[in-house]
Amino acid sequence: DILAPRKNSTGLNLNNRDECDALVAGMQRWQTHQWHARPQVQVSSLTTYQPDVVVRCPFSARDKVGLVQWVHPDDAYAILQTAEHAFKKWNNEPRPAFAALRQTWLYTLADVLEEHRHELITLCVREAGKTLQDAVDEIREAVDFCRYYAGFIDNGFAEPIRLPGPTGELNQLHYEGRGIWLCISPWNFPLAIFIGQITAAIAAGNAVIAKPAEATSLIAARAVELAYSAGIPQELLQCVPGSGPILGDVFCNDRRLAGVAFTGSHKTAHKIAMDLAHRRGPIASFIAETGGQNAMIVDSTALPEQVVKDIIRSAFGSAGQRCSALRVLYLQEDIAEEVIRLLQGAMKELVVGNPGDPATDIGPVISMQAKNALHAHSRYLKSHGKLIAKVEDVPEEGFYVAPAAYEIESISELEDEHFGPILHVIRYRNADLDTVIEDINNTDFGLTLSVHSRNPEVSGLIARSARVGNVYINRDQIGAVVGVQPFGGLARSGTGPKAGGPDYVRRFACERTVSINT
Ligand code: SER
Repeated sequence: DILAPRKNSTGLNLNNRDECDALVAGMQRWQTHQWHARPQVQVSSLTTYQPDVVVRCPFSARDKVGLVQWVHPDDAYAILQTAEHAFKKWNNEPRPAFAALRQTWLYTLADVLEEHRHELITLCVREAGKTLQDAVDEIREAVDFCRYYAGFIDNGFAEPIRLPGPTGELNQLHYEGRGIWLCISPWNFPLAIFIGQITAAIAAGNAVIAKPAEATSLIAARAVELAYSAGIPQELLQCVPGSGPILGDVFCNDRRLAGVAFTGSHKTAHKIAMDLAHRRGPIASFIAETGGQNAMIVDSTALPEQVVKDIIRSAFGSAGQRCSALRVLYLQEDIAEEVIRLLQGAMKELVVGNPGDPATDIGPVISMQAKNALHAHSRYLKSHGKLIAKVEDVPEEGFYVAPAAYEIESISELEDEHFGPILHVIRYRNADLDTVIEDINNTDFGLTLSVHSRNPEVSGLIARSARVGNVYINRDQIGAVVGVQPFGGLARSGTGPKAGGPDYVRRFACERTVSINT
């Protein structure tokens, strides 16, 4: 059954003292290591010398994590040429053999990622500022993507699917690669989403050019090295660290590109869609996954203790840097005071600090720019809203932002998502529930939503009428599991298909029907 999830990776249980100690010990040798990411491309020579960019740790500027050499846009032509030749060559291989090989590469890559867990976790901490738990989960999700997408190669890629027809006619549906996919991935899931996009494109039989986020090119480069060691040929997977706007522009305007898979801001998604629409040549496929103005609705039947636990995890976990994160908390007026009181208490317990320390709950945000933008938003909320709670003890050095909650009047005050640990709280009256849902839908975003209610009629109504991709009832709203909660939004939040869902790999493929008069 293709809908049945494969067995997911177990990751590590950091609540188990021995497992946690073993992880910290295993990470030790990588704590001072410096990585070097060069363009991983197959071209005879790079045209222009590009200087190395120094990568510094987001919570300790003294920690030099490594060096990245960016790709110059003048090299895009040759990189695309390599990908084009590689696609033609591999696409002419006998289907069953090529499909079996791809499956082997992806299953091997899953094992290789697990074997290099200590190094990758350290990189996620030092380059992306992930907490240990988030870094463990990151590797686990990347491994899950490899195995889950590999499983779909069995469905129509090796052997065609036989279709009905009159006697004497054989009808077949073939799935195969579309050509070259550009995979543009974000810094907030620098391994999981990077690997997810690439492995889906490879599973479908494409050639890939991967453009990782500028902030997390070292993790990406290391993942690509591991992909090569798992057997994926360099000509089928090239990695181009560099400037998003500059490289995005040259690649997206090239007619040889068959598709773009993008995860990031909705503004960039619009820009890519425009570039693809305006270029000459084939109509490109576009898969975009962007952000959300994600809400949680809590009615008076909810269990306040459970609610507060889920608010904390959804709004402040990963320093609020998940596209799924809770941004706007709706509290029904009868329960509002109690939830706010418990929330204030729970926020006092939050430990903000070095993400490599197992005791830390919340690490830094990704950059000074992100920190400044969040501080500017906090200043706006201080004058336009009411402060509910703010974590006081936050380190001075590093890109830390104090988790905070502010009460505001309406979600319409928020034009865009604010990608960090800032929660907006709105009180509502029971009679206004329809307006609440309408307001949420009017944001045009539609990624995650959670409902806390012990009344199934209420949760059922909200789940049906809120136009979002992922609804969670009586739980937190982050951490979708591959094959269990296929993930992705609607409207301004994305095009679909859902990552970690049964339709994802096929969207990277091209369908061909062959009818034979036998
Ligand atoms: N998939 C992530 C989550 O569910 C967000 O990108 O939290």
